[in-house]
Amino acid sequence: MSTTAQSAEARHLLQVYGQLPLETTSAEGVYLHAGQRRIIDFYGGHAVAALGYAHPDLLATLEAQARSMYFQSNAVALDVRARAGDALAAFAPAGLDRVFFVNSGAEANENALRVACRATGRSRVVALEHGFHGRTAAAAAVTWGAAKGWYGFPRTPFDVEFIPRDDTARAGEAINGETAAVIIELVQGLAGAYDLDPAFVLTVAEACRRAGALLIVDEVQSGVGRTGAPFAADLYGVKPDMLTTAKALGGGFPCSALLMTEALARTLKSGALGTTFGGGPMACALVCTVLDVIRRDRLMDNVRTLSAEIRRTAVVGPVEDVQGRGFLLGLRCRRPAKDVQAALLDRDILVGTSADPAVVRLLPPLTLERQHVATLANALSDLGQ
Ligand SMILES: Cc1ncc(COP(=O)(O)O)c(C=O)c1O
Repeated sequence: MSTTAQSAEARHLLQVYGQLPLETTSAEGVYLHAGQRRIIDFYGGHAVAALGYAHPDLLATLEAQARSMYFQSNAVALDVRARAGDALAAFAPAGLDRVFFVNSGAEANENALRVACRATGRSRVVALEHGFHGRTAAAAAVTWGAAKGWYGFPRTPFDVEFIPRDDTARAGEAINGETAAVIIELVQGLAGAYDLDPAFVLTVAEACRRAGALLIVDEVQSGVGRTGAPFAADLYGVKPDMLTTAKALGGGFPCSALLMTEALARTLKSGALGTTFGGGPMACALVCTVLDVIRRDRLMDNVRTLSAEIRRTAVVGPVEDVQGRGFLLGLRCRRPAKDVQAALLDRDILVGTSADPAVVRLLPPLTLERQHVATLANALSDLGQ
């Protein structure tokens, strides 16, 4: 049965999304409000709501920036854009000092892949099986399964080789003098929060260095404190040439960024990249606030503590194992994740599913509290095996 909003959307909107049976009217903190129901959001709007909903600092920033100037293009230099660039470079792994703001995860990856092909003069890209990088031409070309499912373009813009995750030998063979770039998610989000083997990641990084290929780490989902570190690259101790991030970066305001090394930035001349909305003042003001609040409120400490708590308490009921890092977790279940999701929603807890039909995905706000973890564990336990 469809909700009232679903029927209303169906009048004119393309019906391309599977939607939850949920009529959300407002949201605050980690809760979605649906009539009289308060639902704990362990899904965070696809990992976007890092500070939850209606966060007072985000609201204050939105209002102040909107009053001062709510749009200006990159043709005009802005102090707020400069501050966002400084804040993001300071938050990012050392060496990624150059920032290009765009609007979505796919757009950040599209630009990273373009820069890689141009800078190396090569046209082969290595990607991982089960990886997801977005729906535009280049980003989808490196997305596992897109060609068979929904790619839609007659050909990809470059040759792509997919290698199995954690297969060190295949990585060594595939990354060679013809490789422009390797693009990886260190914790594969849509795949069910599958965290790559650190030894594999270091092998890939070393193979890139030897072959002169560029390493692109896609932190669209894993970045901005979600793993309990600023970026998953920090956890893995890997130094990418480029890093892309989006989702949580603007706390809900559309915003993404491509970060790169100074050496790579030097290959780009004026006019090499561009965007109308990217780096707009609203997004930039929010980036500053999101990063500031994460630091000020020690939210990465919270993520690490409560992630450990979830691992300790949530392997109950249908859950047999937990994978992932921080607040990008996959609960591997004995029954279909969709069924577990529906049963938890009946108990006013929203979780995500993933491309793995047995994995429930958790992407809660970084502001989650211990009581919410206990509610989840109790609900899972209630579900029985
Ligand atoms: C790892 C990763 N990369 C890229 C994207 C694409 O981001 P967007 O939907 O903002 O284009 C996503 C979206 O889910 C993602 O999880």
